[in-house]
Amino acid sequence: MTKGLLAERAREIEALLDEVLPPANAGPVPIHEAMRYAVLGGGKRLRAIMAVAACESVGGVGKQALGLAAAMEMIHAYSLVHDDLPCMDDDDFRRGKPTVHRKYGEAVAVLVGDALLTEAFAELARMPEKYGVDHHTTVAVMGELAFASGSHGMVGGQVADILGAQKAEAADQAVLLHYIHSHKTGALFKAALRCGGLIGGASPDQLGTLTEFGEHFGLAFQITDDILDEVGEAEALGKAVGRDREMGKLTYPSLFGLEKARAMAQESAAKCLAALEGLPVRSQVLQELALMVAERDH
Ligand code: IPE
Ligand code: IPE
Ligand code: MG
Ligand code: MG
Ligand code: MG
Repeated sequence: MTKGLLAERAREIEALLDEVLPPANAGPVPIHEAMRYAVLGGGKRLRAIMAVAACESVGGVGKQALGLAAAMEMIHAYSLVHDDLPCMDDDDFRRGKPTVHRKYGEAVAVLVGDALLTEAFAELARMPEKYGVDHHTTVAVMGELAFASGSHGMVGGQVADILGAQKAEAADQAVLLHYIHSHKTGALFKAALRCGGLIGGASPDQLGTLTEFGEHFGLAFQITDDILDEVGEAEALGKAVGRDREMGKLTYPSLFGLEKARAMAQESAAKCLAALEGLPVRSQVLQELALMVAERDH
């Protein structure tokens, strides 16, 4: 059942992205083909699914959040393309296929990221016309997602992930690690939920609840990503395993050990589930996400 509902939502998001992305035959062809390669054909679509579910969970109409859903996946896909570059995590496989730079070269991969990030904001700017989102909310969503994606959010976390680990004193490592995970991964989940909530007309209290859900979800999600890098199956994950250890990354298993890391992921997942009590409309999707986040195998 869990798999069924989330898989169905993921298929709907896939169809949406297929429609929203520039066609592969539009000029300049190489960038549009590579953008479609980066985004389509794989991925769990969690950030998009979450954005729509958050909108519904505060009494909004889910369809109005589809522009946000598409933008979330474009920003996420850009972050993965750049994350995989040789100057970052240097990975060859993503979603079961060669990474964008392995297939199209590094220059195109950098540009694919740039183009996806900017196209995401163009899609958000179309929300009034395409989905009837009011202008005030549109600007608020654009501002929130820009902040969450940039140096105060995802990019900030990525910088700390790449540069920080070697420099931190032992006593500061747990604090640094929490910063890395809540920013490189948590910021986008939190923004998906909060922006979905804004489109759905959330009250300040409801936004607070969605924020709480996002923070616990993001942490549980990235701790589990770290664990899967140690003990997961490359085939199920669609990406190589053991890379964090090879790269000397600061991760929850490396700092706390596997057992403690598992317990921490489960604790965050439980808090995430508990946060749902604060929402006015019961969301089966958010519930299933909270139940799968620490139990997933990919
Ligand atoms: C991978 O995210 C990058 C992290 C933040 C750990 P996902 O596991 O959501 O990747 P896809 O979209 O399903 O491929
Ligand atoms: C990535 O974290 C977070 C991003 C912002 C892309 P990881 O580097 O652990 O993600 P994977 O393991 O490559 O998917
Ligand atoms: Mg990384
Ligand atoms: Mg990586
Ligand atoms: Mg990882």
